[in-house]
Amino acid sequence: MTTTSSQIHSSIPAVPGLPLLGNVLALRRERLELLLRISHEFGDIGAFHFGPRLVPLVNSPELIRQVLVDQNATFQKTATVRALGTPVLGNSVFLSEGEEHHRQRKLLSPHFQHSRISHYAEIMTQFTARLQETWEEGGTINLTDEMMRLTLWIISKVLFDADVFGEESELGEVLTYTFRHFTDEVTNPLHLPQSWPTPRNQRARRAINRVNTTIYRMIKERRQNGKDRGDFLSALLRTEDEEHTSSLSDLQARNETLSLFVAGHETTATALTWCWYLLSQHPEIYAKMREEGDRVLAGRLPTLADVPNLPYTLQVFKETLRLYPPVYAFTRGATSSVRLGDYFIPKGTSVVISPYTIHRRSSLFPDPERFDPERFGLQQEQNIIRYSYIPFGAGSHMCLGMHFALLEGHLLLATLAQRLTFEFVGSGPIEPEPLLTLRPKGKVSMRIRRR
Ligand code: HEM
Repeated sequence: MTTTSSQIHSSIPAVPGLPLLGNVLALRRERLELLLRISHEFGDIGAFHFGPRLVPLVNSPELIRQVLVDQNATFQKTATVRALGTPVLGNSVFLSEGEEHHRQRKLLSPHFQHSRISHYAEIMTQFTARLQETWEEGGTINLTDEMMRLTLWIISKVLFDADVFGEESELGEVLTYTFRHFTDEVTNPLHLPQSWPTPRNQRARRAINRVNTTIYRMIKERRQNGKDRGDFLSALLRTEDEEHTSSLSDLQARNETLSLFVAGHETTATALTWCWYLLSQHPEIYAKMREEGDRVLAGRLPTLADVPNLPYTLQVFKETLRLYPPVYAFTRGATSSVRLGDYFIPKGTSVVISPYTIHRRSSLFPDPERFDPERFGLQQEQNIIRYSYIPFGAGSHMCLGMHFALLEGHLLLATLAQRLTFEFVGSGPIEPEPLLTLRPKGKVSMRIRRR
């Protein structure tokens, strides 16, 4: 049923906030609680106060489709995200819009199609097998760090053909620092301009300079010797535009590769850490996944050909992404005044979309707090309403690395489940901490039991 303009409500319901600050303190200290409260109280759409501004949480499949798909020319990356992200990522695919964004996606997409990423499967399993050999029987590991190390190795190899332990792990640390700074700034309405020489801004700038030095050196090496090292950067540098006239500039190559590096390791590492934690808390699900691997692989490393025969393992990973979506929230800004459902959204309004809250709506996912991989069984998955399960976003900015991430999660779970069992020995229950990604709060200590 369509609504006439006379039925448009003037203001979106909102949680009360403090004078001037609104809900800024809650946003910084209890972000997930605030978003969940809005979701529970208002359902499809409700708002919080960011200082003097009202920020709606768009929280139904229909409204999410309107923002990310139907009206995506109006709802774009916000000015704040662009201002804070550009010094690190430049005008890369992550931040660009319109024609420029379309062109960049066309350039990058071929490198992420299923046929291409299959080449990466071997890297994923070999590196996983190597890492687990360093863990001792009966020893305890900090799983968050280990998963981060592993996905960093894999993405470094895939993007730069860089072997582990080198400069590239420093690159990872520097980038992690830079993006912590970024997340902090995004949620702080009082942040100072990045050009101001505050100690924090100076530290961030030094970090970016170090990243640039490393990446430009890698680009130079590849341009000079022209050898195909089989990595993403070599392939990207050989990519030409549609008219076959010009290839990528050093700056473009740097921006795109860096975006992939940033987007491509902490997200997957966080998801995997949650996944093993959830499995350790649900022994019957852990046993079922292990049994599937034993039956199909009988102890050998999985290959790409095994993937279709390990459906339950993928279901486990997808259900983890429902409960703990690493990208738990993202924003869009209205570039003109626009109607959204029954509401009028003034030009300049930022809206939030939160996979974390929509994945917990009981009308879409019954008994939403329950870890239940059966939701993603062949039949059941077809009943999931479109745009209600959005760990990878939707529309024109939907995650470019989705197939890569699903393959990585799938293969890493199958490889490790074959070799060992993780026994949670930390103090639980583990709570989520919304940093750059939705990390487990505190250490996730796991004892290694070899099989
Ligand atoms: C479990 C792992 C991952 C999750 C949950 C995830 C999630 C997301 C989400 C939600 C977005 C959309 C953000 C928005 O619309 O504002 C996104 C974008 C993106 N992701 Fe991922 N991602 C993951 C892994 C990866 C990997 C492995 C790569 C690359 C190797 C990657 C590359 C990208 C890129 C380049 C974009 C920007 C696309 C664009 O703006 O057009 N992601 N991701």
